[in-house]
Amino acid sequence: MSKPRAQFATRIGVIAASVGSAIGLGNIWRFPYEAGQHGGGAFLLIYILFVFAIGVPIICSEFLIGRSSHSNVLGAFQKLEQKGSKWHLISYVGILSSLMILSFYSVVAGWTLEYTIQSVAGGLKDSSPDYLANYFQEFTTQSNRSLMWTIVFLLLNYLIIRKGLKNGIERMSNIMTPLLFVILLVFCVNSLMMPGAADGLKFLFVPDFSKITPKVMLGALGQAFFSLSLGVSTLITYASYFKKDVPLVRSASIIAGLDTLFAIVAGLIIFPALFTYGIEPTEGPKLVFEVLPYIFSQTPGGQIWAAAFFFLLFLASITSTISMSEISISFFCEEWKMTREKASMLNTVIAIVFGSLCALSFGAAADWKIFGMTVFDLFNFTTANLLMPVCGIVFAIFAGWFMDKKLVRSQLTNDETLKVRTYKSIVFSLRYIAPLAILSIFLYQHILLDLVFLFFSQNQ
Ligand code: PFF
Repeated sequence: MSKPRAQFATRIGVIAASVGSAIGLGNIWRFPYEAGQHGGGAFLLIYILFVFAIGVPIICSEFLIGRSSHSNVLGAFQKLEQKGSKWHLISYVGILSSLMILSFYSVVAGWTLEYTIQSVAGGLKDSSPDYLANYFQEFTTQSNRSLMWTIVFLLLNYLIIRKGLKNGIERMSNIMTPLLFVILLVFCVNSLMMPGAADGLKFLFVPDFSKITPKVMLGALGQAFFSLSLGVSTLITYASYFKKDVPLVRSASIIAGLDTLFAIVAGLIIFPALFTYGIEPTEGPKLVFEVLPYIFSQTPGGQIWAAAFFFLLFLASITSTISMSEISISFFCEEWKMTREKASMLNTVIAIVFGSLCALSFGAAADWKIFGMTVFDLFNFTTANLLMPVCGIVFAIFAGWFMDKKLVRSQLTNDETLKVRTYKSIVFSLRYIAPLAILSIFLYQHILLDLVFLFFSQNQ
């Protein structure tokens, strides 16, 4: 007889693990630099709109696909689709994206380890913004250290994922997320007392509508998907372990609400500081690693705050990487009949190979460009701005049009035991709003044409 599948022990464990997946570098590292590059207030406004109008319904679609099939992503589509149809092919895109994200995400997560150690050792104490900018530059281009941390991070991730669901994920998510929030709140208050606070708040909250361009919309869409862990089937995989009584719609709204709260609080820390110290918001991926250490170095007890912050950020990253690893592990175990140990090893080996290329993108492999981008940038851009939204369209259309209507309803209402006031709007979004909005953004941005153009201009 086959072993019963694992389940999350408690309802709070479910929310905590999904929130743990959502909250991570996406909120604290990616959101501020994306918002900074895409005009602040206008970006935030569209971002929030996408999170609730498209994100929440697609979370619900992933949840209901996962929980009604109790299977890995490929098995889920095979169980739910009609005989002979090909919906299950999308699961390969999800698995591929999860491995690509794991690869580049581990590089940045590795940076949090470097910054934790340096904070403890006092290497970042009393430094100026220029010093910190140079420090980041040297550290990431001296490829060996960045490479080493990427591998160390992936090995730590491996130690957790091989233990399985209950032991690893649930226990850790329950402790770290609230702790990280406390530190963020302390530094939010700290930033709000800085001289540049008013300008920072204006930048983040007052939308300049002339800044809304197709590029900003695509950036906000990609960020919403990335931050909510959508369109990779992480949430399908997690929901396959949910018990019958988990309220799917309410959980989806809580996850989206908390995730957005973390991103906004991160913005409230970063933007007042940028305007106070005269740093450009458009600096890109290095932004947070230059600004935050400076904020800490200006605070009494800064070394301890910095060490605690980067360590918690590292933990937040690892609750995200275990969730993305779970996609391929459950696939390898259930479809390829591997043991969990072997599946975790395979996941780690793939990520180490591609993660190393991503780590080297800042140094030795900076000139290796595909579509005009380094491997790191390519993985970051194509997963968030192309593959995740494409999967999102497919999940929405599948749940909205092709799944058994009764099954969708019984999943979202827990067999009519819950009154879900937003039921109709969720189904409406899955059928029309989410697919059409994502599609129009793609067309508007000519994303595919841009990539082809870049490819050919590079190879001439
Ligand atoms: N949502 C995570 C973050 O914001 O850091 C990143 C992520 C996790 C993306 C899991 C995709 C995923 F499957």
